[in-house]
Amino acid sequence: MSGTNAAGSITVTLDGTNKSTKLALKPGTIGPQVADIRKLYDELGVFTYDPGYGNTASCDSTITYIDGDVGVLLHRGYPIEQLAEKSSFLEVAYLLLNGELPTAAQKSEFELGVLRHNMVHEQLRSFYNGFRRDAHPMAVICGVVGAMSAFYHDSLDISNPEHRRIAAFRLIAKLPTIAAWAYKYSIGEPFMYPRNNLGYAENFLHMMNAVPPEEYKVNPVLARAMDRILILHADHEQNASTSTVRLAGSTGANPFACIAAGIASLWGPAHGGANEAVLKMLAEIGHVDNIKGFIERVKDKNSSVRLMGFGHRVYKNYDPRAKIMMNSCHEVLSELGIKGDPLLDLAMELEKIALNDEYFVQRKLYPNVDFYSGIILKAMGFPTSMFTVLFAVARTVGWISQWREQVEDPTQRIGRPRQVYTGAKQRDYVPLSQRG
Ligand code: ACO
Repeated sequence: MSGTNAAGSITVTLDGTNKSTKLALKPGTIGPQVADIRKLYDELGVFTYDPGYGNTASCDSTITYIDGDVGVLLHRGYPIEQLAEKSSFLEVAYLLLNGELPTAAQKSEFELGVLRHNMVHEQLRSFYNGFRRDAHPMAVICGVVGAMSAFYHDSLDISNPEHRRIAAFRLIAKLPTIAAWAYKYSIGEPFMYPRNNLGYAENFLHMMNAVPPEEYKVNPVLARAMDRILILHADHEQNASTSTVRLAGSTGANPFACIAAGIASLWGPAHGGANEAVLKMLAEIGHVDNIKGFIERVKDKNSSVRLMGFGHRVYKNYDPRAKIMMNSCHEVLSELGIKGDPLLDLAMELEKIALNDEYFVQRKLYPNVDFYSGIILKAMGFPTSMFTVLFAVARTVGWISQWREQVEDPTQRIGRPRQVYTGAKQRDYVPLSQRG
């Protein structure tokens, strides 16, 4: 097969035949054009091959743009640095869902809408008792969010815009409650109900840390850091968990089922589980003196050890979120009076060495957002098992915005990749007595 460039199209010729086809090039607002291959099989009888979908655009989207080569992340056109500095998580949530920043009236109405949905159905509480106390909280929230489909029947009709709107509110509003309860269940403390005099991040910290017998005052520096962590994780284009949500959504599944699928996908150490893995790795390294030996193991082709928190499928430059997270990390540590934290010292030394090592430089492996988020969360008192849960709380808004965009896009069809079949050719069944 050979290809030639023409204005606005690519001509693909099947070598050794006189068959060729013109593939239209589809431009985005920014970013590379994409070749529309939809008629390739009909016209040439071939599929495309792209394991991991690194070269495949699966949809049109107006939500998030990433330029991984230069390290740019935009939500609805706004740079993440500006949103992290000037906005709030709920304002970013509004932006992701609706396409524009809210006016003051829209902002208050949206915030009120989220507050109004932050309690969970009381019967849903009993689901927690079905889990072992030592269950991973990701397993718990995956189950409880999936179970929401059994409780909120009045927001399951995906063809009804009002149902879609309410489902979005419910998911964004209830995830902090569901997540905090998973934590409380694991430590045997009573569940704390949400409080509507607190902001979104504050409320989450309150439900995580407060106990009924005493007043709990949320530290405003930590609340701001939490809000920023939520902003930084709110959406990230067509990553594995978002694509999972979209794939589940393409079948017409209800939004709660789709978000539960996203949570399951996020759990893996190559994705949302990475910040938990960073802390495990730092603990395993233990001391700056052991970094050299660890880096040798990472570089050894015969070992499967990876430098967790480094590298990204899309960013081949500094992850812009990592820089913001690094500053936030210093703010939190200084607020909490944590000076010379051994883990942070280790992380800084590891970062310095890796950024100057030929292996990482050549492969364009830079620290990603997870490299620092684990350290902040640990300093804030979160157990490592809650790190990915927190990521899920933040990403829920991205998932539901992408899900809504997909459901409202008439060009979307059920997701159904093809394959290169490399198994046995057709053969006849062999009776058991003749096998051997
Ligand atoms: N440590 C050591 N080597 C690495 C790392 C790493 N963290 N990441 C990639 N490499 C190497 C690979 O071994 C490969 O080397 P080779 O060319 O000699 O074979 C090369 O860099 C390219 O790696 P790929 O696996 O092709 O990169 P891919 O884009 O598929 O993987 C991923 C991206 C999964 C994130 C990977 O970098 C990784 O496993 N990182 C650690 C886990 C992590 O931090 N994940 C968080 C991602 S961000 C998020 O989900 C929010």
